Amino acid sequence: MGLFSASADSAKRAVAEAALAYVPRGGVIGVGTGSTANFFIDMLGDLRHQVVGAVASSEATAQRLRKVGIEVLDLNSVNELPVYIDGADEISPDLHLIKGGGGALTREKIVAAVARQFVCIADESKCVDLLGRYPLPVEVIPMARAHVARELVRLGGAPDLRIGFTTDNGNCILDVHGLEILNPIGMESDINQIAGVVAVGLFARRSADIALIGGPGGVRRVEPRP
Ligand code: 5RP
Repeated sequence: MGLFSASADSAKRAVAEAALAYVPRGGVIGVGTGSTANFFIDMLGDLRHQVVGAVASSEATAQRLRKVGIEVLDLNSVNELPVYIDGADEISPDLHLIKGGGGALTREKIVAAVARQFVCIADESKCVDLLGRYPLPVEVIPMARAHVARELVRLGGAPDLRIGFTTDNGNCILDVHGLEILNPIGMESDINQIAGVVAVGLFARRSADIALIGGPGGVRRVEPRP
C-alpha cells in the first residue's frame, strides 16, 4: 500500500538525508531526477564545498543543482564518478528498478553506467516483489513510435504514449502497462533490441548497489539478496 503523501515526503526527506553519508569528499557526484532526488539536492547545497561538482541526469536537476551553488559538469569531462544517487518508481528485492516516471531514464541510465556505486533512495511504497505494476517507461525516437509500440504489444505489454511530453533528448515516451516482469534482465535486453528504442526504464543489467528505504520506522539500508 502507498504511503500518504505527507508521510511519503517525510520518508523521502529522511532517505535524502541518509544519502548525504555517501557524498564523496573532493570528488564528483552523480545526481538523479525526481521528488526524492530534489530533497537530496536541496540538502547537498550545505555540502557544496565537499564536492568538486555534480553530473546531472536531467536539465531540471542541473538547474536545481546550480541554484544551490553546485557546479554542473559534463559527463564527458569526468574521469571518475564514485557515487550516483537517484530515486526509483519500483524496487525489487534484487534491487532491479523501474525508473523513468519523470522521463529522465536515458540520462539516468548513462550516469548509473559510469558510477562506481549506485545508491537508490526511495520511500517504502516503491518496494515490490515483482516489477511491472508501475508502467514501464521506454524512450523512443519519434519516427519509430508506432513500430516500437507494436513490438511492445508482442512482448505482452500495452503501451501508452505519454501525451504532451518530450524528453531532454527530444524523444517521446511509451509507458508500458500490464507487464509482469519475471525476468528483468531478459526483458531489458529484449526491449533494447527493438529498433528505435533509445532506452528502457528497467535497471536490471545495472541495478542499484544499495537502496536506502524510508518508512514510519526510519531508514533501512538494503543490499541485493545473495
Ligand atoms: C525520473 C525517475 C525518478 O527517479 C522516479 O520517477 C522516482 O521519482 P520520485 O522520487 O519523484 O518518486 O526515474 O525519471
